[in-house]
Amino acid sequence: MVSYKELGLVNTREMFAKAIKGGYAIPAFNFNNMEQLQAIIKAAAEEKSPVILQVSKGARNYANATLLRYMAQGAVAYAKELGWENPQIVLHLDHGDSFELCKSCIDSGFSSVMIDGSHLPYEENVALTKQVVDYAHQYDVTVEGELGVLAGVEDEVSSDHHTYTDPEEVIDFATRTGCDSLAISIGTSHGAYKFTPEQCTRDPKTGLLVPPPLAFEVLDAVMEKLPGFPIVLHGSSSVPQEYVKTINELGGKLPDAIGIPEEELRKAAKSAVCKINIDSDSRLAMTAAIRKVFTDKPGEFDPRKYLGPARDEMERLYKHKIENVLGSNGKAE
Ligand code: G3H
Ligand code: 13P
Ligand code: ZN
Repeated sequence: MVSYKELGLVNTREMFAKAIKGGYAIPAFNFNNMEQLQAIIKAAAEEKSPVILQVSKGARNYANATLLRYMAQGAVAYAKELGWENPQIVLHLDHGDSFELCKSCIDSGFSSVMIDGSHLPYEENVALTKQVVDYAHQYDVTVEGELGVLAGVEDEVSSDHHTYTDPEEVIDFATRTGCDSLAISIGTSHGAYKFTPEQCTRDPKTGLLVPPPLAFEVLDAVMEKLPGFPIVLHGSSSVPQEYVKTINELGGKLPDAIGIPEEELRKAAKSAVCKINIDSDSRLAMTAAIRKVFTDKPGEFDPRKYLGPARDEMERLYKHKIENVLGSNGKAE
């Protein structure tokens, strides 16, 4: 058993309370490789932003669970080396799908876990979430639960359409499970195709797709039921169209990829939404940058020469999110 406290990590409790009070949100960035982690830490350290490093089950399988955990430990040391004296870094399991997976993460030094029982019948979701909370809280590890189903792929679970969170269920769920934060469904979804073209309108000037608005009325109703309770938004990539364009122009194929407008995320960040999950945008930044090097310098075969620019692009993206969308810069001096 390794406690996250020995690794210099923190849980989400205080971070979320401050974020709700301060009207900003904490970035939760997924990582599964060194370049992503370097970019996240550099951006957070330079911006002095609290940050949540998210690891999915798929990422653990891809990179090796032990290696990823040590990378997160190394990230704390790296942050200090960059001059961030008091790094506020959470290591979080994204979309945990079983008690055993959550336990394995807690036992190896994670400071926060998500148990995603959103696809289960309500009572089963309550029971599983409570089981994880009871274990996690013994070690002061915080737990995120989920109510409502997001469209798209949630790790290995996929759904064709979303079911908004039912505000009538949230008090019962939070009380009976004891979870520390709640992921809700208000129209966001995972991946780079968050809306079909049929769900969108087209901007006559730019020709770009304009997605339908998020269900802020559901968020408002949840906040009314659970005042001050930390709310989480998954599927919050904005799918920057400049990356999509670069990728498509340089041999890629991402037709009609579309995300959540930044305006809507800015609005959410000012509310009880205190954790905003972003993964796909980092994948797009990396892919666009690598395609550019491959096109401009076809003779290049040193991975550092294309992973380096990809890392720089991700760092720019993370800083932009922190400063211009979530407003978490300067909140972890
Ligand atoms: O919510 C899903 C995250 O983007 C993680 O995706 O399961 O492909 O690692 P992944
Ligand atoms: P995106 O696919 O929109 O980046 O969402 C990521 C996410 O919710 C991770 O849990
Ligand atoms: Zn998610």
